[in-house]
Amino acid sequence: GSPVPVPHLLTLADLSASQITRILRHSYALKQTSQPWLKHSQLSHRLNLPSQSLFNKCIALVFSKRSTRTRLAAETATDLLGGRALFLGKDDIQLGVNENLRDSVRVIGGMCQGIFARVGNHEEIEEMIEHSPVPVLNALSSLWHPTQVLADILTLHEHAQRFQTTESAEPAAENTSPESSITSLIEGAMGAIAKSKPKPKGLFQPLPELRPLKIAYVGDSTNVLHDMLVTYPRLGHSIQVASPSNPIYRCPPEVWKRVVELGCEKSITWDEDPRKAVHDADVVVTDTWISMGQEAEKAQRLQDFNGYQVTEALCREGGAKKDWVFMHCLPRKPDEVDDEVFYGPRSLVFPEADNRKWTIMALFDLLFGKWDLTGSDRPS
Ligand code: CP
Ligand code: NVA
Repeated sequence: GSPVPVPHLLTLADLSASQITRILRHSYALKQTSQPWLKHSQLSHRLNLPSQSLFNKCIALVFSKRSTRTRLAAETATDLLGGRALFLGKDDIQLGVNENLRDSVRVIGGMCQGIFARVGNHEEIEEMIEHSPVPVLNALSSLWHPTQVLADILTLHEHAQRFQTTESAEPAAENTSPESSITSLIEGAMGAIAKSKPKPKGLFQPLPELRPLKIAYVGDSTNVLHDMLVTYPRLGHSIQVASPSNPIYRCPPEVWKRVVELGCEKSITWDEDPRKAVHDADVVVTDTWISMGQEAEKAQRLQDFNGYQVTEALCREGGAKKDWVFMHCLPRKPDEVDDEVFYGPRSLVFPEADNRKWTIMALFDLLFGKWDLTGSDRPS
């Protein structure tokens, strides 16, 4: 018969909503295999070891840009799956120097069972998938950052209890009679109790349910935002973006094309005013204004993004929800978010960083280990 197609992954736009959900469930189950309480469980002998689908396999981490989280997540996750990760930075191998990308990828793919690639221009990773005999997974390109957004969604599900309230910072005027507010309080509490106790099914806690959220993104149209745009709307969430009107800070046409193909544009608004973006938001997200490779534009960018810093004051003036939470992929510069928000109780940035490991582990297991994105929800 015909050979099985190689399961590459360049953006979450390549996956269906149900495939994304399966990856998230698998990530959550894998995360539970490493939780200390399981070590004392009588079932520990069955639970401590996740799938060893990378046993006797090597994964090439071909990174032409720096990385802390993505690299650590990939190396530690490969280890847990029984495999070995080889970090191949641009100064270590003949990557684009002395040898073209096509030849390098063919050689790496001849000795390794998966390639996790961080590249500059997105076309580089497109060229890699054309010539690689093994799956290539995008570890960040100029256009997309799929593994980041998987970690973000997992983090939101884990913190679902923070979104029980739908109250805005400016309370709505209507419906304030004592009876109706008590009734709605009781109804709200009953709903919260019902939702906060998912019935355990099998050995693992199921991924907590998440109600539809309003997600604000304030800042540059980066690779992180682009994967948000093709993903959140398909999972029932809406996105309100604010960025300066100069087209270089707006969604590139090749990304917007994917957004529209997936029908996601209906759940997206885009404005110049950051206050409009944060209005009624449950979650406020930003990213650096100076992505890797844009260092020469720093002065111009700091000027153009003046007024876009995420602060308590901005979200209060814009009327974000009372309990809005903050997210950032990291690394963070203080320009785009102040210390009060970044290190404050609203911030989910460190749980978000931790979750890079479990989501990358799930993808490595399914793509590199099993060549199967339809895989089961539980590690085996
Ligand atoms: N968020 C993220 O991708 O971080 P690194 O660049 O450190 O990998
Ligand atoms: N937009 C940032 C993300 C870093 C993880 C960059 O590309 O540098």
